[in-house]
Amino acid sequence: MSLPPLTLYLAAPRGFCAGVDRAIKIVEMALEKWGAPVFVRHEIVHNKFVVDGLRAKGAVFVEELDDCPLDRPVVFSAHGVPKAVPAEAAKREMIAVDATCPLVTKVHNEAARHYENGLQMVMIGHAGHPETVGTMGQLPEGEVLLVETVEDVAGLVVRDPSKLAFITQTTLSVDDTADIAAALKARFPAIAAPAHDDICYATTNRQMAVKAMAGKIDALLVIGAPNSSNSKRLVEVGANAGCPYAQLIQRATDIDWRALEGIRSVGITAGASAPEVLVNEVIDAFRARFETVVEMVETAVENVEFKVPRILREPA
Ligand code: F3S
Repeated sequence: MSLPPLTLYLAAPRGFCAGVDRAIKIVEMALEKWGAPVFVRHEIVHNKFVVDGLRAKGAVFVEELDDCPLDRPVVFSAHGVPKAVPAEAAKREMIAVDATCPLVTKVHNEAARHYENGLQMVMIGHAGHPETVGTMGQLPEGEVLLVETVEDVAGLVVRDPSKLAFITQTTLSVDDTADIAAALKARFPAIAAPAHDDICYATTNRQMAVKAMAGKIDALLVIGAPNSSNSKRLVEVGANAGCPYAQLIQRATDIDWRALEGIRSVGITAGASAPEVLVNEVIDAFRARFETVVEMVETAVENVEFKVPRILREPA
């Protein structure tokens, strides 16, 4: 008796967000405008495939400004940078292009506004992630207190509980962040909160699509990099929503076929920095092994677009 076909549920939206799209375009336009090499501080977005592609075109990825020659342009990654970094580039009279996602910049501005109003900041985020480092680095050292879990809230030592505000990293789990925000509000009732939260539309939409498919899939594959925050959250969201097997893969060669033996349905999604070509590669890998049907699970339609910085729109 032949088996029924394997159903591949494709999450929509998935993959590139407007901030990632813009960041990649910025590096490409910088290469066009100034020629190679263009230096990029940190991986422009957390995806090896994207980084390798830009490297082949002449981008050089470094971790610090000190690694960039003074006479070449430098691009700051989509995750944002501490305030001191563009200030130092300006002091060195370097050409600097900021690819920080405008939705991260919005959080930077929020933090600065609260600080000017005399509030101490609490940030919900992951220690060491470049976005967290960049956002905390908008204010003087020690001004932003970081919490990663509900438990961390109990240990917070604040200056004045009546003068507090919180912000969040843009790529967190919507549900975990709501729990941490609730714990902050319970302990510090006067704390000022962002209008919704700072989690961006792309993170929210990708998590929603995974939740919508979790009940009908035997396995979830999230295409994304191991250092991509929003991709890792998609794996957690899938597991928390009841998906029996959820794995992060960088590309088709990472699929653990043995672990997938006997399954009849697979959910596929991609983090905000993973290109569609890798999604197609994964679908093709399934098609090569199984008879498959593909179904879309669409929970939102996105049409967000961000302009590139003015310096790239002006003639050289
Ligand atoms: Fe920006 Fe959200 Fe993408 S903050 S870079 S739109 S994941």
